[in-house]
Amino acid sequence: MKIALGCDHGGLEHKNAISEYLQQNGFEVTDFGIYELQSVDYPDIASKVCESIQKNECQLGILVCGTGIGMSIAANKHKGIRAAAVSEHFSAKYTRLHNNSNVLCLGGRVIGVGTALELVDLFINTEFEGGRHQNRVNKITEIENK
Ligand code: RB5
Repeated sequence: MKIALGCDHGGLEHKNAISEYLQQNGFEVTDFGIYELQSVDYPDIASKVCESIQKNECQLGILVCGTGIGMSIAANKHKGIRAAAVSEHFSAKYTRLHNNSNVLCLGGRVIGVGTALELVDLFINTEFEGGRHQNRVNKITEIENK
């Protein structure tokens, strides 16, 4: 599985730690930046990560901004992207199990790096449950296609 990463200036430290953690655990990572501290517009980075998933170059994405919220709003404007802004363990797991989320959004000013790594771990190691949840996800896709 290849994982796309991106952040703005609110999430650089977290994104770099996540990149290192994933690679140490055998995952392939595509890092869409930023790479040094500079002020950027989070929708630009969200688009790079989401487009790599739309093209199936990457299968999951992780975006970090100050709150995780701006990234999730921008990411969810992309067809086929189900992004969740998460700051605790239960949601990190259930957004994969029930929503088949393909992008995890984290807040670098909300949670510490240690928590971020635990949430990433849960997110990437949990499989979609399917069943009745598939029907619900299909309905989200129907809304998207209207
Ligand atoms: C940037 O200052 C901040 O607005 C951004 O990182 C994010 O929190 C937006 O949702």
